[in-house]
Amino acid sequence: MQPILIVGGAGYIGSHMLLHLKTAGYQPIVLDNLSTGHREAVLDAELIVGDMNDAALLSNLFSRYSFSAVMHFAACIEVGESVRDPLKYYKNNVAATITLLEAMQKHQIETLIFSSTAAVYGLPNAASINEAHPLNPINPYGRSKLMIEQIIQDLAQQGKLHYAILRYFNAAGADAEARIGECHQPESHLIPLLLQVARGERKNITVFGVDYPTIDGTCVRDYIHVDDLCAAHLSALNILLAEKRNLICNLGLGHGYTVLEVINKVRQITGHSIPIIEGQARAGDPPILVADAQLAYRELKWQAQADLAQIITHAWQYVEI
Ligand SMILES: NC(=O)c1ccc[n+]([C@@H]2O[C@H](COP(=O)([O-])OP(=O)(O)OC[C@H]3O[C@@H](n4cnc5c(N)ncnc54)[C@H](O)[C@@H]3O)[C@@H](O)[C@H]2O)c1
Repeated sequence: MQPILIVGGAGYIGSHMLLHLKTAGYQPIVLDNLSTGHREAVLDAELIVGDMNDAALLSNLFSRYSFSAVMHFAACIEVGESVRDPLKYYKNNVAATITLLEAMQKHQIETLIFSSTAAVYGLPNAASINEAHPLNPINPYGRSKLMIEQIIQDLAQQGKLHYAILRYFNAAGADAEARIGECHQPESHLIPLLLQVARGERKNITVFGVDYPTIDGTCVRDYIHVDDLCAAHLSALNILLAEKRNLICNLGLGHGYTVLEVINKVRQITGHSIPIIEGQARAGDPPILVADAQLAYRELKWQAQADLAQIITHAWQYVEI
């Protein structure tokens, strides 16, 4: 079994990746500082509790295992916090990634899959965004991810790295068997917040902006099932290992849903009325953010399968267990 290092593997998306890697016959090893991740999310995979900015720990880890690749999910991920505390984002996302890349170089590990984000595009200039869209992030979170993308590409130019940079839109849903799911603290993602309302843990949900130029006045976003995301990563990993080339791809469903459509689907699936409060639009929230995922379709031979109903059903099953 080829060992694969999953940095940030105790987090939401990384922990789902572990299950996919195991099923595919790889040996996932997790490095996570548990700053936002959960020990129990790694199930029976090997977990090393530590920070990717710890060069000595990385050196030791890379000497113990001969990793075929590194999958890098670790980051601070809250846009609002990144505006309030940019240095935290540049330190944990950019500086710590440099430590990780140095260790990889030192130990001749040349395959990297990096979690990037639609936030690198900034405000969209089209209803659906492809990879040729200008890169103009509007907050430190997005800028930190773009900086890492550029650093990775600089290393690849020297022939020292093969990479897949995968730009996710809105990851959502949970493992279909409800073994693991989404649990951010604090939670800022729409679907888990709605499920908290459905469970009585929260009284209502605030809808930020009801006058957008969309079919019902609320924002449109592209929700991609976490299992679809992981399937795309697996495909990228296999391609990189076999062909040693580089990829930059959007990962999304390629179809958007308004906030009200998501709320109505949650009402239908949970049977709860989900009271809403109409709030002001938030600065920097574009009306529509939807992926053009055709490049991923061509390059990864991959297409997202799950629709909104499946995403919410799986997320609901997870929180109801
Ligand atoms: N969730 C989304 O919708 C979404 C969308 C676009 C991009 N992304 C990207 O996907 C990745 C995973 O997101 P997520 O939702 O699973 O977040 P998450 O917070 O659940 O997972 C991140 C994990 O990284 C760990 N971590 C953070 N800093 C670390 C460090 N210095 N050393 C070791 N471990 C560290 C955390 O403890 C956590 O387990 C992130 O890079 C994020 O930017 C997520």
